[in-house]
Amino acid sequence: MIADFKALRARFPVLERKTYLNSGSYCALADSVKAAINSYMDDRLLVGANWDVWVMKNEAVRSLMAQVLRAQPDEIAVTASASAGINALASACNFSGERDKVIISDFEFPTNAQIWHAQELRGAKVVHVPRAADGYIPLENFEKLIDERTQLVAVTQVCFRNGARLDIPGIVKLAHSRGAKVLLDCYQAVGALTVDVKQLDVDFAVGGMLKYLLGTAGLGFLYARKELIAGLVPTQTGWFAQANITAMDITANRPSPTARRFEAGTPAVVNCYAAEAGLKIILDIGTDIIQERVTYLTRLCMDRLEEIGWPSITPPQDERRGPMVCVRAREVARLFARLTEQDIVTSYRDDNLRATFHFYNSEKDVDALIEALLGHRAEFCTVVPPA
Ligand SMILES: Cc1ncc(COP(=O)(O)O)c(C=O)c1O
Repeated sequence: MIADFKALRARFPVLERKTYLNSGSYCALADSVKAAINSYMDDRLLVGANWDVWVMKNEAVRSLMAQVLRAQPDEIAVTASASAGINALASACNFSGERDKVIISDFEFPTNAQIWHAQELRGAKVVHVPRAADGYIPLENFEKLIDERTQLVAVTQVCFRNGARLDIPGIVKLAHSRGAKVLLDCYQAVGALTVDVKQLDVDFAVGGMLKYLLGTAGLGFLYARKELIAGLVPTQTGWFAQANITAMDITANRPSPTARRFEAGTPAVVNCYAAEAGLKIILDIGTDIIQERVTYLTRLCMDRLEEIGWPSITPPQDERRGPMVCVRAREVARLFARLTEQDIVTSYRDDNLRATFHFYNSEKDVDALIEALLGHRAEFCTVVPPA
């Protein structure tokens, strides 16, 4: 498919009114996603409890998510959130043996740190890989800490604070060579970049639907490599995680032979309608094409920031960047508010203003952001201009 980005952009009405650079928090709403949610409402009004269709919707999300990750449907758990996926996996880990270490990095989203720290009560030793002086986390920092006691390396692909992308193939190779497994938190990448779990060779991956996958809050996924599933029995479970959901057996826990064993209760049905529609858009365009477009837009934005003397703190190398470009700002909350007044939707973390790009953004959005930042430069930029 040759993507017609202008036509695609027209399917996201908010883009006519705002410069929307906030897909890293919540995506713009597509016409077909809105229609899908409406069709759920119609079902509720006209049919009532349409369980046969609803179960199929959950399965459709599983199958489409498998296509996005280039995995098998049996390797996907459809969860309530990324956190729910990590929790289910953590509950299946055993920290009483030789391998009691979990390695995380300084770039983690809080949930992927907090859940592993919570496992300290069960014997886990959580170790943080620190960033280097330049703010990045090079492979050698992982090399120093991953060892024969490491059970799991749980890392983010793209850092939600600064937009830096880690060397995931390098980390996976290192972890596997030392007998450790890898959980990839790809939430800030999936949908905007190609995340091919087989090519990356990760053992597990988590994310959710509300950012670059174009769905809604309230739905996530956990990928688990097929060969590992049988050996992992989550203690955080429920009836939708059982081998036979309709058995209603109260005498035992009989987990599904597939990744469904990492699920729990009744699926978030309305969110499945939205996610199905969102995932279809992503798959219709293709993640390789989306990645190319996003890389082009982020590079353009970085170049333009350099030109106006407000250089980005996000790594300039394409392979070290995802869909997010950040600048450091003085009083960032006030800068964010100013941009919001100008109908430029961004977000911020720490002292960093974040602009996040998707295929539906355009050069026009980059221009609008740069022009606005130029106007605010004297007040908010922390970079001292050369004399
Ligand atoms: C990188 C990353 N991981 C995890 C999460 C949390 O996801 P959830 O709220 O679905 O647990 C987020 C949410 O912003 C995120 O950006």
